[in-house]
Amino acid sequence: MQSEVLERFGNYYLLDRIGTGGMAAIYRARPATLDGNGRILVIKRVLPKMADDPSFLQMFRNEIKVCMAFNHPNIIVIHDFGELKKQTFLAMEYIDGKNLKDLIAAHSTLGRNLRIPLAAHIVEQSARGLAYAHSFGNSVTGENLHVVHRDISPHNILIGYDGRVKVIDFGIAKVDQEFTDTTKVGMIKGKARYLAPEQIRGERVDQRADIFALGNVFWELLTQRKLFCHGMDSDLPALQMIQDPNHFIEPPSTYNSEVPAELDYIVLRALTRDRDKRYQTATEMENDLRKFMSKFHPSYSTPQVESELKSIFALEIRKDREFLQELNLRAQAAIAVQPQLEDFARNTKAGNVEKKKTGIMAKLSTQVTVTPLRILVVMALYGAVGLLKMDESYGILERFRVPEHARNILEYLAKQDQARLEKQNAKRQVVPTEHHVERTIAEKPVLIAKKKTQSTRSRISR
Ligand SMILES: Nc1ncnc2c1ncn2[C@@H]1O[C@H](COP(=O)(O)OP(=O)(O)O)[C@@H](O)[C@H]1O
Ligand SMILES: [Mg+2]
Repeated sequence: MQSEVLERFGNYYLLDRIGTGGMAAIYRARPATLDGNGRILVIKRVLPKMADDPSFLQMFRNEIKVCMAFNHPNIIVIHDFGELKKQTFLAMEYIDGKNLKDLIAAHSTLGRNLRIPLAAHIVEQSARGLAYAHSFGNSVTGENLHVVHRDISPHNILIGYDGRVKVIDFGIAKVDQEFTDTTKVGMIKGKARYLAPEQIRGERVDQRADIFALGNVFWELLTQRKLFCHGMDSDLPALQMIQDPNHFIEPPSTYNSEVPAELDYIVLRALTRDRDKRYQTATEMENDLRKFMSKFHPSYSTPQVESELKSIFALEIRKDREFLQELNLRAQAAIAVQPQLEDFARNTKAGNVEKKKTGIMAKLSTQVTVTPLRILVVMALYGAVGLLKMDESYGILERFRVPEHARNILEYLAKQDQARLEKQNAKRQVVPTEHHVERTIAEKPVLIAKKKTQSTRSRISR
């Protein structure tokens, strides 16, 4: 989903909205300065309806607090955060690509499975990112903070068209110290279908809950099906199934014969309900995946992922680039004229133009007594003042001294508008076929003439 926004937001210029969850909106944006041209980032902004919800704001600030300190290639980089017009936001790097949910959906539309090495690569990289977060320590004391993401799902893992894999959305992540004060035992957070059994039971969770969820995502990548409650709208029955020891978790090869036994093993080990029998760390899981890759797909790495994705999404990438380019040009033009517009707004607000006009008119009325000739003179002077005022408005661009490149952009946009208009007009003109002309001339020439006059008249009267 993409929708144009073009709105200034503090130091940023929002270009379009690329996602809206229940609580925050996600925008592509750029710095609101001329020399910020060429940089695209993402702004995640709390929805106005959530701005007064203290527990949600706490979650959002938590995401900022946890993520700001991270520095790992498989975790999204947060650049900035703050509050503007009572809206809490964070600014992060932009990943030009897909979340895994959309990646799976695109493959389903194409009627094919994700290639095995691609799925394994994505999960290996995600495990690496998670391993980093899980063992992240306080930078001063070095003490492990025991971060748990708690919401690993296909929505929260991104793959760039350049092959980079990033874990995002640490919104409900927890660090160890916080268990004592904010986490109530029995409280469940995260997407139901991807929760670990111990999460559902409301027990204190550790990094192994993320491993279960990653196993679930891996299962889905390999089979293009949801592991729990596939095809059901409601997530709730999944809560039951996940905990039920009698519910058998089938190996992914049941649904995709290309899945080798090694991957069946990795997936099922991550999905073991008893967390003591699961992979104990994300690094263990990553190591198994790395061994698999080096044994069966030794030359498969980021450049291969890139060319694979770029060929699947070639058309989409091209269209989006054109769209982004146009949004960026329009933002650049708006940013170029912004200071002058603000200056003008300040001057007009102060009533300067009005004051000038009233001053001149006051002088005139004391000097000119009412005779027909003098009325004419007064009217002429009124006209002149009016002209002056008009010039204030219409001479704006001349006096703005718009920088040359901004002027080019404006011209470019004007040309584009003109081209669009011409295209629309061309579409509207009906080109009669030969057959049509012959028939109408032979059979109903009068009717046609009448119709034309009527439609012209009705257009005029409208
Ligand atoms: N940095 C980013 N780059 C590209 N797309 C992003 C980025 N952050 C979020 N998105 C898109 O927005 C969606 C929702 O983002 P997320 O941070 O998970 O919000 P929510 O808290 O609403 O779940 C993601 O699934 C992804 O499609
Ligand atoms: Mg999310």
